[in-house]
Amino acid sequence: MNLPNIKEARKRTKDKVEVSYDRYQIPDSIKNVGKNKKYTLLTYGCQMNVHDSENIAGIMEEMGYTKEEDMTKSDVIILNTCAIRENAHNKVVGILGRIKKLKEEREDLITIIGGCMPQEEKISNMLKEKYKWVDIVLGTHNIYDLPKLLEEVFNERKQNIEVYSIEGEIIEGLPVKRDSKYKAWVNIQYGCDKFCSYCIVPYTRGKQRSRLPIDILKEVKELKEKGYKEITLLGQNVNAYGKDLDIGYTMANLLEDTSKIGIERIRFVTSHPWDFTDEMIDIIAKYDNIMPYIHLPIQSGSDNILKKMNRRYTIEEYKELYYKIKNKIPGVSITTDIIVGFPNETKEDFEETLKVYNELKYDLAYTFIYSKREGTPASTMEDSISLEEKEKRLQRLNKVVNKYAKEANLKYLNKVVPVLIEGPSDKNNKLMGYTDTMKLVNIEADPSYIGKIVDVLITDVKTWSMEGVINSDRK
Ligand code: SAH
Ligand code: SF4
Ligand code: F3S
Repeated sequence: MNLPNIKEARKRTKDKVEVSYDRYQIPDSIKNVGKNKKYTLLTYGCQMNVHDSENIAGIMEEMGYTKEEDMTKSDVIILNTCAIRENAHNKVVGILGRIKKLKEEREDLITIIGGCMPQEEKISNMLKEKYKWVDIVLGTHNIYDLPKLLEEVFNERKQNIEVYSIEGEIIEGLPVKRDSKYKAWVNIQYGCDKFCSYCIVPYTRGKQRSRLPIDILKEVKELKEKGYKEITLLGQNVNAYGKDLDIGYTMANLLEDTSKIGIERIRFVTSHPWDFTDEMIDIIAKYDNIMPYIHLPIQSGSDNILKKMNRRYTIEEYKELYYKIKNKIPGVSITTDIIVGFPNETKEDFEETLKVYNELKYDLAYTFIYSKREGTPASTMEDSISLEEKEKRLQRLNKVVNKYAKEANLKYLNKVVPVLIEGPSDKNNKLMGYTDTMKLVNIEADPSYIGKIVDVLITDVKTWSMEGVINSDRK
């Protein structure tokens, strides 16, 4: 058993990050253990968490398991959790109640919890004390350990908690079962060193560490050869890519080299404003296959709050960057994240956020009420603002967000834009896909268009999506 420790998780040393190419192995005794057995995998977190789930699925399938959506029919249930806000926690506690009932009916059912939640001391302790029936608890640093932990459960049915609070390594060579045949996630960087005062990620994911360019470019080439149309480069601060490698290779270099491989669409998330260089903007503007879409979290419109958040920029600096991006990248769409109700956010601070929003008129924003995360600096800050007041502020902000989202979408009405058609839409009999600028479009079209980039005429727009029909085939 190994439990996490917040003091260790906070540590950052200058130690070199180890890259391992052979850490992952399946012990002989369980090579085919999953034959005729099923697993259900539930994912709660960000894109990185989603991609980790693709690795977990890859590992399970190498052991012979097949995927099953309905957990009541499964032999193994895996929860890949997120710790970013309290509601993520509540969802997992809810589902654990359901799994416990299943387990009472079927003793051989195996339950696994992974992801960011177990990296919190409080959660791993809770699982150890109150959820002894959960078989395996593993964190974000040791996904590769899953086969070994399963083998141990088969040998001896007792709870196995293996969560490490370490800076982390880079583990290459994990199997991957991708959710899509057309769009792929590609990790370029793990962890985060920004330590925004409200955020748990630097503690759950370890230090910021970049994958080697050679490994990333190899993966992108393979994806291109397999026919993938779009890749998204993933990291918590992708703009800082390469800084820790000390080889003089930057995010701008990586974008350019990736672009030259010739995959049709390249995206990247998330961009922290701090590391966004002019060079990067120039490269994005120069290459057609780097999509004109930037997610640039602002978090607050008040300098006072930004400082308490430890965001490292002022509103003036943010705006300068925003306009540089807008002016240099034609047709770019910019989205953002905003936290409402940071400890002691005054009415004036909040008005500043609305003011900046009304000036920048984002294409879209993801808005959140501040959630206290144990162990972060903000968790000890005094907060006299009621939840009711925070909810009112969120509603006011969302009205503004929706207004500009609709306005931005209206610019597309009656225009023809390329869309990568991904599959059936959830809501109706149509297909769905995204524009270059990351606008969701529902399209009336034959399923043979799935997996293609097609010119679509936009016939109607809403706040969160648009409707369209096929205009001509670009294949
Ligand atoms: N690395 C990205 C953000 C990752 S987390 C960046 O820095 O831009 C995604 C979003 O969750 C954040 O942008 C922030 O708006 C929100 N978030 C993070 N911690 C939060 C907390 N404690 N309470 C509420 N929202 C939070
Ligand atoms: Fe969290 Fe800030 Fe790191 Fe983003 S940059 S993951 S908000 S600490
Ligand atoms: Fe959640 Fe961990 Fe991602 S906390 S947002 S799954 S990095």
